[in-house]
Amino acid sequence: MKITGNTVLIVGATSGIGKELARSLHALGNRVIVASRRRELVDQMIADHPGMSGIPVNVNDPVSLANFTFEVRNRFPEVNVLFANAGICRSEDMTSEDGKARSFNVRRASRESPTLSHT
Ligand SMILES: NC(=O)c1ccc[n+]([C@@H]2O[C@H](COP(=O)([O-])OP(=O)(O)OC[C@H]3O[C@@H](n4cnc5c(N)ncnc54)[C@H](OP(=O)(O)O)[C@@H]3O)[C@@H](O)[C@H]2O)c1
Repeated sequence: MKITGNTVLIVGATSGIGKELARSLHALGNRVIVASRRRELVDQMIADHPGMSGIPVNVNDPVSLANFTFEVRNRFPEVNVLFANAGICRSEDMTSEDGKARSFNVRRASRESPTLSHT
C-alpha cells in the first residue's frame, strides 16, 4: 500500500489503535477522516490535527450508519482506504473455565466463518 496521498476513513478512530493510526497516517500526508460515536472526541481529534475531518457514527445503529454512508459518499467520494476498526475488546481470564470456553468458541467460529472474530 502507498502510505501517503490517500484519503483514509477510519471508523473507531478516537482511541486506542484507531487513534494512533489516524495520527500516524495524518502525519504521513494522508487526508484522514475519523469516525466514532462520541461527537466530542471526533471534534477533539479534528481540533488537534488541522486538516483532519470527522463524522460521528454508531455502526450498531442502522439509521446512523445509513446517514454516515450518505455523508461520506457526498463529502469524500475520493476515499480509497477504509479501516473498519470500531469495536470493543474485553480482557478475559484464559485460565478460567469460562475463558477457555470462549477461546474455543472464537476459534471454532473463525474456522466456520472467516468474517467472524468474536462470538
Ligand atoms: N486492543 C487489543 O488488544 C485488540 C485485540 C484484538 C482486536 N482488537 C480490536 O481492534 C479494534 C480497536 O481496539 P482498541 O483496543 O483500539 O479499542 P478502543 O481503544 O476501545 O477504541 C475503539 C474505538 O471504536 C469506537 N467505537 C466503539 N464502538 C463503536 C460503534 N458502535 N460505532 C462507532 N465507533 C465505535 C470508539 O469510540 P466511541 O466509544 O466514541 O464510539 C473508539 O474510537 C476493536 O475492534 C477491537 O475489538 C483489539
